Amino acid sequence: MKTIAANLKANLTPQSTLSYLSVLQTELDCLQNVKKHDIIVFPNQTSLTDNAYRHFEIGAQNAYPIHNGAFTGEIGQEVLNALKIKHIMLGHSERRQILGENNSVIKEKFQFFMQENMRIILCIGEDSSVSYVKDFLELQLQHIDLSYPLLTIAYEPIWAIGSGRTPSFEDIANIMQILKDLGVKKALYGGSVNKDNIAQICSLTDGVLIGGASLCPKNFSQMIALVE
Ligand code: 13P
Repeated sequence: MKTIAANLKANLTPQSTLSYLSVLQTELDCLQNVKKHDIIVFPNQTSLTDNAYRHFEIGAQNAYPIHNGAFTGEIGQEVLNALKIKHIMLGHSERRQILGENNSVIKEKFQFFMQENMRIILCIGEDSSVSYVKDFLELQLQHIDLSYPLLTIAYEPIWAIGSGRTPSFEDIANIMQILKDLGVKKALYGGSVNKDNIAQICSLTDGVLIGGASLCPKNFSQMIALVE
């Protein structure tokens, strides 16, 4: 059983997301291995919709650690509950780098959503200037309770995101081992996952977090078909 997740980022509109999800559902009806895997789609915030699809679940790319209230521009747990959403992504490098989320903000969100019993995908990963990757990842995980059973870590080296470049399979296997040694129970890989590398990457990991290549539902479904 692998986790195969699509991060749609700030792409698609509420309307085109609905058609994406409906095409994906129909495509997955024909896939033999669909029941074997956990498939999650993370639409953008205004395209979040009821978690009510066959074969896959809807997740939120981010939320604020509150139920509701005076937090302009944010959504809280009340919205996630109303949509029956159980998955949340935290700490994506685009939020860390572009929107200034640091480890302490991510820790606060992690603690809140852990208390809400949400399934958390927490993203970590270094950029190309980092020499001691293990130390860097350890720091990003420092205040995260790795024993939380609904936690999955997504390792996404920043230089691999949207670049068409990935670490070697050997390097991915090494990082997975480092994460296990740090106490991580479940780990995905993300960064330029495509049809050519998904099968092998999934054989080394607990699954993948896919950006660009998941934006076309047929392509995403064909990628899922390749995973053992
Ligand atoms: P790409 O698959 O486009 O490299 O994006 C990866 C990513 O950021 C998933 O969260």
